[in-house]
Amino acid sequence: MCGIVGYVGPHPALGFLLEGLHRLEYRGYDSAGVALLDGGRIDVRRKTGRVSQVEELCRLDPPVGTTGIGHTRWATHGVPSDINAHPHTGGDGEVVLVHNGVIENYTSLRSQLISQGYTFHSATDTEVVAHLVAAQLKREIKLGGKASDPQTCLRAVETAVSQLKGTFGLAVLFRDAPGLLIAARLGSPLVIGVGKDEFFLASDASPLVGHTERVVYLKDHEIAVITAKDFEIVHRETGSQTPDVRILEQTSQDTELGEFEHYMLKEIFEQPQTVENALRGRLDEEEATARFGGLNLDPQMLRGIDRIILTACGTSWHAGLVGEYLIEEFARIPVEVEYASELRYRNPPLSDRTMIFAITQSGETADTLAAMRECKRKGHPTLAICNVVGSSIAREADGGIYLHAGPEIGVASTKAFTAQVTVLTLLALFLGRMRHLSYPAGKRIIGHLQAMPDNLRQALKCNEAVKKLAEKYYQAETFLYLGRLYNFPVALEGALKLKEISYIHAEGYPAAEMKHGPIALVDEETPSVFVVPKCNIYPKVISNMEEIKARRGPIIAIACDGDDKVAELADDVIYVPDVDEYLQPLVTAIPLQLLAYHVAKLRGCNVDRPRNLAKSVTVE
Ligand code: M6R
Repeated sequence: MCGIVGYVGPHPALGFLLEGLHRLEYRGYDSAGVALLDGGRIDVRRKTGRVSQVEELCRLDPPVGTTGIGHTRWATHGVPSDINAHPHTGGDGEVVLVHNGVIENYTSLRSQLISQGYTFHSATDTEVVAHLVAAQLKREIKLGGKASDPQTCLRAVETAVSQLKGTFGLAVLFRDAPGLLIAARLGSPLVIGVGKDEFFLASDASPLVGHTERVVYLKDHEIAVITAKDFEIVHRETGSQTPDVRILEQTSQDTELGEFEHYMLKEIFEQPQTVENALRGRLDEEEATARFGGLNLDPQMLRGIDRIILTACGTSWHAGLVGEYLIEEFARIPVEVEYASELRYRNPPLSDRTMIFAITQSGETADTLAAMRECKRKGHPTLAICNVVGSSIAREADGGIYLHAGPEIGVASTKAFTAQVTVLTLLALFLGRMRHLSYPAGKRIIGHLQAMPDNLRQALKCNEAVKKLAEKYYQAETFLYLGRLYNFPVALEGALKLKEISYIHAEGYPAAEMKHGPIALVDEETPSVFVVPKCNIYPKVISNMEEIKARRGPIIAIACDGDDKVAELADDVIYVPDVDEYLQPLVTAIPLQLLAYHVAKLRGCNVDRPRNLAKSVTVE
């Protein structure tokens, strides 16, 4: 939630700040703002709404300065408004900062600061931090520090953040310290881009693409002191650190829309490539198994595992459910799929042989990170199935598997789901081959996986048919999504996609469970989307369809190519290639993603930036 950018160097900062904020807008779009430092003056421009509105604000009379910070907001404390928009000013204007995270003890700090004479203008928790840094700066100056000295400013930030409870990614400018940017992190990501005589700062690497390939991921409790000449990283307990400079592998093409109208559509259409990327270098045909570079667990330990917990949120949780079925079927290891927000506060009995996987696109989801940390604290091996390289979860896990899906920008997750399911299939194959799965079975699975990119290409051909379907149903007020076995998680995912981007009420259910309650919702106006490709309980799903038909509910079916039986029963059918049951989620998810997309578009919704949501949920 919330995106931060910063720049220090010889060039005007505004261009990078605005471009960077556009790239980070997926993290929040309630308001945006920039602050530029120019010879003892800080110019703040901020506004409710999108980055383009701030851009407009800056167009006629651009703020100048070669040091600056910017922010795009997902509101936590205080409604979206100009006054609550970041950057926030502290003291008498000697400090200005942007913040991503939540300050849990802001009420008590606010009272203290008010009693010391500080005036608050906003309802945010961030303004507390701005005043706190200003108060600490005053104190440092009283003790003999100079307002222009980076070390004085560093000490002010250090003392201020030591009083904060909660999470923060901060970028701070000081009116009297030209060319200085201080960044601090606890729980909210920050990346420093190392250029030639210039430095960039951002919440993730996307704004840095095209500016520099050298990056440093700031760790929790670290503070970076950045000037155009150099930067220093200080850990709050252990002091100065040697920066771990890494090479960025992203290209600007990854974040461009190209021929597509929306990122979501682009990402849906990238999925054949997503599967190819997730499989690349991981299929061991000779041993009929999968290969991973980063699990960091020895074979004996892996063979000893007697239980797996998959923990995640949202779409990643749905992918986890598919993973449960796959691992239990292939490897016969009991699997539980836990909402990370529950697991972090629960205390389930875990044996020494329990292995935990956190599944996450962003690698920054606060609940998933906390659940992983809690399991790690208890001494269990924690691994990550993660997309964003260098993210908090990727770095803190004992090992893991990257998705290699490239940046996912649409708030509605699509290709990450596909990559997660692909990786979980590989994992099931790998664990299975260490146990009961035969060589021929392993070979068969590899063959099926290799055919999947083409099957996904074929499945995407349903786009026009789905568009027509959307035109027929886009005014419905409720949808039911029903599926069984491997297609039950797909039903959940289809419902989530529809509700998050079109704001239509949708419920996903196991098809047979529907008669225990949700069937009461069925009437002539309520479409039921049945995910009903050929499977070993296909006749049972057909019976469930009959039950809806008997109540005059319209039926949309997602079925295998050539399935005439379904066509007799359903009002509308979308066909996908006939693939093995355990791989069906990869093809059946596609028409559901497209349905949500077209319905949302027809209803005039902002597909890539749905209301109230943000791409990575870094608050509890
Ligand atoms: O980055 P993560 O995979 O950890 O994110 C988890 C959820 O926040 C995410 O999947 C969310 O549900 C998506 N908006 C769904 O499309």
